Amino acid sequence: MDYKRYIAEKLSGDQLSAEEVSSALTVPPDPAMGDFALPCFRFAKIFRKSPALIAEELRARVPADGVIGEVSAVNGYLNFKLCKQRLAEETLARIFREGERYGSSDLGAGKTICIDYSSVNIAKPFHIGHLSTTVLGAALYRICKFLGYHTIGINHLGDYGTQFGKLISAYRRWGDRETVEKGGIRALNELYVRFHREAETDPALDDEARAYFKKIEEGDRECNELFAWFKELTLKDVQKIYDLLDVRFDSYAGESFYSDKMQPVIEELREKGLLKESNGAQIVDLEAYGMPPCLILKSDGSSLYATRDMAAAIYRKKTYDFYKCLYVVAYQQNLHFRQFFKVLELMGKEWAKDLVHVAYGMVSLEEGAMSTRKGNVVFLEDVIDKCIEKAYRIVDEKNPTLEHKEDVARKVGVGAVIFGALYNSKIKDITFSYDKVLNFDGETSVYVQYTCARASSVLSRAGALGEYTVPASPCDQESELVKALAEFPAVVVSAAEKYEPSYVARYCVDVAQKFNKFYFDCKILQAEEGLRAFRLALTEATLRVLKNALALLGIGVPEKM
Ligand code: ARG
Repeated sequence: MDYKRYIAEKLSGDQLSAEEVSSALTVPPDPAMGDFALPCFRFAKIFRKSPALIAEELRARVPADGVIGEVSAVNGYLNFKLCKQRLAEETLARIFREGERYGSSDLGAGKTICIDYSSVNIAKPFHIGHLSTTVLGAALYRICKFLGYHTIGINHLGDYGTQFGKLISAYRRWGDRETVEKGGIRALNELYVRFHREAETDPALDDEARAYFKKIEEGDRECNELFAWFKELTLKDVQKIYDLLDVRFDSYAGESFYSDKMQPVIEELREKGLLKESNGAQIVDLEAYGMPPCLILKSDGSSLYATRDMAAAIYRKKTYDFYKCLYVVAYQQNLHFRQFFKVLELMGKEWAKDLVHVAYGMVSLEEGAMSTRKGNVVFLEDVIDKCIEKAYRIVDEKNPTLEHKEDVARKVGVGAVIFGALYNSKIKDITFSYDKVLNFDGETSVYVQYTCARASSVLSRAGALGEYTVPASPCDQESELVKALAEFPAVVVSAAEKYEPSYVARYCVDVAQKFNKFYFDCKILQAEEGLRAFRLALTEATLRVLKNALALLGIGVPEKM
């Protein structure tokens, strides 16, 4: 039941529409005040009365019934308390009815959302800087799917550019098949770093690299085979991480995929009179929009990142006819996205408004900043491995006789990495700390997982669950928990609207805290017969909701911990 709607309809009258009421209704910060509040000063113009008088007048329109338990007018506000029993009955029934689908909807039916995320660079380390785009993108992917959107996950591979000429040159000079095959990305990265070191004293290397890149572009077989192999090795390496994080893609069409799709874009820009020459390069002037020019073609005729992104956006529109196309990319690239979105708009693509840059902040390790240039990077794989290892030690210490410790440690460790990256609003810079993300008493996934294990344990000790009836006046702990459980569908929707999986992460902690308060304050297994059944049902519903919410983030729940 949509309670806001229900209240809004009761309050609406000749001067006031249900929509106006609904959008004015708020949730008071202190639950003791009520479940919803209507600030009446908003309607002073319509009624030409003081807020206090308006509140009094509106109050008469909503007698307490089976749904609304209590209405009071206080200081120009109209406060509503829902009927706790009714709310609990409806919420629990819905959770049990919908099960794994509780929180989902068909809001997005018939609409396609493309999500460009993770987008790894071939032969470059997959480092901690890629954590956010990968887990944020994957969470948005699952959330959008849960809301009924047709969702396309795209790994826009960084597989184009002169660096691949450098890599071929380095491989030909110092590499061998076996070492690279075994070492994967790390071996390729070493070659790349060595190339830069040696090129400092030997400028001829750069010419050689350029020549190799040209060969790739011209379709030279050997060079392209090498390049394809580098790509395969990189993807094999990152796949290990994707498997751990439960991340999937529907397309791996990367930058090189658009090599032959840029010419029409450049021609269209020229036809529309948007292209300008500047120092031999071709640009689109964006001064009128307060931005530096968007570079389309370099003076040597080679294309740029923005050009390939424009070709990609056009291709995606044609192929998927998206409703929205999201780019989950660090805020450092803000300007790039603003520029090429603008150029597409100037080309008359009305759908340019549906392109969204979902920007996020930097992740750094507590242990010290990283530097990509010299090759001393923090590999994401190492961060995840270390988290799993630490999780194992903690779990082992807390519960030495636990079965399937390895599996538990994997769920806890991986969860900690994901949750650590998602918990804060995405635009914030974060410092990743192993101790913080693995704190059992913090705002962490392991706290939530531990709460789930606690609920599971109560349920397994209870044996078969019978019929339950909701008491006429549930206690505060029960009601607060019920209210939180009832909010889940709305939380999922706002997470999607704001592109903020952190809403779901925070929601998990909120529910876990409310459950723990209920667990410690109220007897569950020892409660008297009727109450026991209700409390067990509430426990089961909580576990269901937490599992659904964590699943959206890609986090599993161990049965026991
Ligand atoms: N590979 C790029 C990088 O690591 C990110 C690509 C993002 N997607 C895009 N369509 N530009 O910076």
